Amino acid sequence: MAKKKPPRSVSTSVGKSPQESAVTMTEIVLPSDGNSLGTIFGGRVMSWMDIAAAIAAGKHARRVVVTASFDGMHFVAPVKVGHVVHIRAMVNFAARTSMEVGLRVESEDPLTGERRHTATAYTTFVALDQLGQPTPVPPIVPKTLEEKRRYSQAVKRRESRIRLAKELKHQER
Ligand SMILES: CC(C)(COP(=O)(O)OP(=O)(O)OC[C@H]1O[C@@H](n2cnc3c(N)ncnc32)[C@H](O)[C@@H]1OP(=O)(O)O)[C@@H](O)C(=O)NCCC(=O)NCCS
Repeated sequence: MAKKKPPRSVSTSVGKSPQESAVTMTEIVLPSDGNSLGTIFGGRVMSWMDIAAAIAAGKHARRVVVTASFDGMHFVAPVKVGHVVHIRAMVNFAARTSMEVGLRVESEDPLTGERRHTATAYTTFVALDQLGQPTPVPPIVPKTLEEKRRYSQAVKRRESRIRLAKELKHQER
């Protein structure tokens, strides 16, 4: 009889590269995804982005992850019904229990292959343990110049989010 493998433990001290969490998700824009202009409804794009980001965060943490926030959501160009959408997601930075996942969306005209940048966002995901409590994740070890740039910008975004939250809380008193 085959021996049952013990569950794999997740090391939270060994760093992982952003590339290990990279995800590309491809969808086609159906008429039911569109608005009255014949382009995609923004909420549909955000739903796909949330899924791609959750997969990337889950690959990094190897834990159950939940969306904590969606920041810097920018729709830079519309996407036509019938066009293809590519969503790229990758963990840019990991703090203690949270991770920033960067997202870039491109559309593709299926007849010409022409691609356009259509949306960008930064999301924060939190890893949870079996009791649903935030649990530590491995650090990110950026390797390439691009990964190092994304890492340092993610640190700045986190610092600015925390600073703003403190300021607003202080004003409420
Ligand atoms: C996200 C959640 C687990 C955080 O729980 P919490 O009790 O606030 O936990 P803590 O205060 O201990 O914070 C845990 C981490 O989350 C981060 N965090 C909490 N709220 C955040 C927010 N709004 N944006 C970004 N990060 C946030 C904290 O900075 C901290 O990160 P760190 O450990 O890396 O420093 C909780 O708010 C939650 O369950 N939210 C609902 C999630 C959900 O239902 N998502 C949609 C469906 S997946």
